[in-house]
Amino acid sequence: MNVNSLEIQNFRNIENIKIEPCDTVNIIYGENAQGKTNLLEALWLFTGCRSFRGSKEKEMILFDENLVSKDFSKLSMNFSDNNRNHSAEFLLSDKKKVIYDGIEHNSSSIFFGEFLGIIFAPQHLNLVKGGPSERRKFINQALCQLRPKYSNVLTDFNKILEQRNALLKDVSHHSELLATLDIWDERLALYSAIIITQRLRYLSELEPFIKDIYFGISSGKEKIGISYDSVITIKNDDVEILKEEILKELQKTRKEDIINGTTSIGPHRDDILITLDGLPVKNFGSQGQQRSCALSLKLAEAAVIKKITGKQPVAFLDDVMSELDASRQDYILNHIDGWQVFITCCDPSSILKSKTGKIFEIKGGKLCSST
Ligand SMILES: Nc1ncnc2c1ncn2[C@@H]1O[C@H](COP(=O)(O)OP(=O)(O)O)[C@@H](O)[C@H]1O
Ligand SMILES: [Mg+2]
Repeated sequence: MNVNSLEIQNFRNIENIKIEPCDTVNIIYGENAQGKTNLLEALWLFTGCRSFRGSKEKEMILFDENLVSKDFSKLSMNFSDNNRNHSAEFLLSDKKKVIYDGIEHNSSSIFFGEFLGIIFAPQHLNLVKGGPSERRKFINQALCQLRPKYSNVLTDFNKILEQRNALLKDVSHHSELLATLDIWDERLALYSAIIITQRLRYLSELEPFIKDIYFGISSGKEKIGISYDSVITIKNDDVEILKEEILKELQKTRKEDIINGTTSIGPHRDDILITLDGLPVKNFGSQGQQRSCALSLKLAEAAVIKKITGKQPVAFLDDVMSELDASRQDYILNHIDGWQVFITCCDPSSILKSKTGKIFEIKGGKLCSST
């Protein structure tokens, strides 16, 4: 999978940039706050995933010094996938519009599974150190790219959860609503079971790769483990059996849920447990071990995409090289050899020593040189 060209208009601090990246390493460098991450973010949106910065789309349209926004923002990209060329456009104005190979859509989820990428940015260290929601975001995003239907299931699940929570609040004053709660429990249990099953399968795909990669990064010092962490007892990954199990749990926690007005069990509360030699790395790992785990997770994510789709995702490395020591930098650069990669940094010299590719310098939202 390769980006062949990109044009950005009125996106963040970039009024207009056109680039033609190479198929190997593309380095985007410049001082702080010049627009390097903005450029990566523009490319990332074509994966169909939300911005890795968690920003709202409206905030991405270029505003001037008086904070007055332009009418629109437009991103145009051409990419190739196993020798097939595709054109993609992303238009933000009052409404969002995406155009993929000439056909208009109103949701960027059309790009799920079409343009595949992985992103590793400094905030991804929170994958290991942060709370469970970081890891749920990781697995949800990975699954949305791999199995576009998962994103529909997730959207439906969130709606059902919201409705159940609203009902829980009402039930305390209107006990006649209890029968309705049974119906929502059924639905919630089914969607929870589908999501958990998909996540379990994903983790079992990821496991051999993360083990291998972590072994390589740490020179075999310790063994990494990864498992799904849920309050629900998961005996196997059969959706029907799991659904029944979840229903039982929902019954058990119903009283408490009604008191709190919220659903206390389910995939929205689950976590992924990452261990080193059996100990949770979140609590016991050193800074260096945590970095290695986060990096392994990201590279394993790419390996799973490659295995399942047969396509090599584009790698986006935002400002992470300077945070990694020389041996981890070397490991990444060797590992991604042959992939198309976009690396942002302030000082390209250390990366250039080991790689050839294209270099783009960004200053004040403008491309000021490319070689
Ligand atoms: N919608 C927007 N319009 C104009 N400027 C923006 C917008 N969103 C962010 N910016 C500006 O973009 C700059 C940050 O760009 P970024 O790509 O994160 O920098 P870096 O080169 O350090 O990665 C900041 O100066 C910020 O104010
Ligand atoms: Mg940046």
